[in-house]
Amino acid sequence: MQVRVLPDARAVAVAAADLVEETVRRHPAAVLGLATGSTPLGLYDELVRRHAAGLDLSRTRCFLLDEYVGLPADHPERYRAVIARELTDRVGIPPAQVHAPPADAGDLPAACRAYEAAMATAGGVDLQVLGLGVDGHIAFNMPGSDPAAGTRLVELSEQTLRDNARFFGGDVAAVPRRAVSQGLETITRARRLLLLATGPEKARAARDAVVGPWSPQVPSSALRSHPATVVLADAAAGALLPAWFTAPEGRRRSA
Ligand code: F6R
Repeated sequence: MQVRVLPDARAVAVAAADLVEETVRRHPAAVLGLATGSTPLGLYDELVRRHAAGLDLSRTRCFLLDEYVGLPADHPERYRAVIARELTDRVGIPPAQVHAPPADAGDLPAACRAYEAAMATAGGVDLQVLGLGVDGHIAFNMPGSDPAAGTRLVELSEQTLRDNARFFGGDVAAVPRRAVSQGLETITRARRLLLLATGPEKARAARDAVVGPWSPQVPSSALRSHPATVVLADAAAGALLPAWFTAPEGRRRSA
């Protein structure tokens, strides 16, 4: 795990965009795993800026981490709509190249297996962008999730319902209680993982991800078993990390 604590959220966005750009320049039809939520928005804005400056993302294929269950197809908070609005439509990635977990399927287990198969057929995820829940969740793998789980139906924790109410006019009751989420096993199959954490409310979760117990109660600890995980935190989210992570360049250590 490579951990970098950067001065602010803007620096996190730029460093994250550097990794996406490096991936796409090496492989123009790269498979990108995309997170929604607030944390990656700076990264997505930076990619839009680079796209305007000539970075071609039009051949990338994208797979979302999760999708709410129970929202109407045209609801603006469906993650498919969110990612189109925040990134893919803005950088010219055709909708047919953007895939979301199957939240409306009649036979959900079969549709989840088909989603995993589509990721495999695309060649697997080259770079997976991840946000971090206040309670340590990754995608919608809540504390206690089976580390060996694949894409499946999940229940959101009360903490996550409260945290996500801000996207639903502050109304906790309007947040769907269920979602279809990639599992930790699915996520850790990606060739490279990029975990982003910004803001003081993520400080405990960031510490637990990097140096906390290796436990299903800390879903993000599963990322430590991956050989190519990069963690980018701003100073606020990195505040509880051991001091060596904030040491000057060249004296930093990996977890
Ligand atoms: C979103 C997702 C979630 C978020 C997490 C943090 O696709 O999978 O795990 O990354 O809830 O959300 P924000 O970034 O809004 O704090």
